[in-house]
Amino acid sequence: MIYKTENYSEMSRKAAGMIAAQVIMKPDCVLGLATGSSPVGTYRQLIDWYEKGDLDFSKVSSINLDEYKGLAPEHEQSYRCFMNTNFFDHINIEKTRTYVPDGLTTDVEKCCKEYDRLAAEMGGIDLQLLGLGRNGHIGFNEPSDIFVGETHCADLTPSTIAANQRFFESEADVPRQAITMGIRTIMLARKIVVVVSGADKADALRAAVRGPITPQLPASILQLHPDVTIIADEAALSKM
Ligand code: GLP
Repeated sequence: MIYKTENYSEMSRKAAGMIAAQVIMKPDCVLGLATGSSPVGTYRQLIDWYEKGDLDFSKVSSINLDEYKGLAPEHEQSYRCFMNTNFFDHINIEKTRTYVPDGLTTDVEKCCKEYDRLAAEMGGIDLQLLGLGRNGHIGFNEPSDIFVGETHCADLTPSTIAANQRFFESEADVPRQAITMGIRTIMLARKIVVVVSGADKADALRAAVRGPITPQLPASILQLHPDVTIIADEAALSKM
């Protein structure tokens, strides 16, 4: 299903509404969460409803898609820091039940295996929130010759490094690798909500929805998922 919204704020309210419904229907649900500019407004709306007393996150657990390799949780551009600042610090979620891959791991293979095991032990993801990379990536599953099922360490493409440079002082400061949940765990989520905003995502969104299913455009795999809702603003849908 594709919801067309006028702008970013309407997109954010709709996505937050779906997450709120999930939390109300299943208070101990597992949320798969994402970082980036796209979900910030969604988190802001959820915080607002929490502050009004409409939402309770005390029994919720969360597992994030990815983390930059080499960044400490305290680093202000780490995804752990992003999640704390933009969401967790403002709601009553139990922080010990919020998981983000360990960017400082010295044993990548073990760390990735444990992350997959963790997702399984949590009972899988009830609702996975996703953004969309300009090159069609989801999490940090970058365009490649194969879909990688497991959590893995990904080399970021030059276009992703360039896109994410805006958060760092210079391009040289952008980490070159990230630990990312693989396609399998994402696809096993019972429900997927994708938020997409802005004209610079229009080509990727069109290819993801209308193009062939190919690891060169990782989000295209979502065509095979039985319960995906894309919430996109007019600009993002301008090429559909
Ligand atoms: C980042 C993240 C993705 C995110 C995407 C788009 O690199 N790894 O999870 O969805 O790129 O980011 P943004 O929403 O800032 O455009």
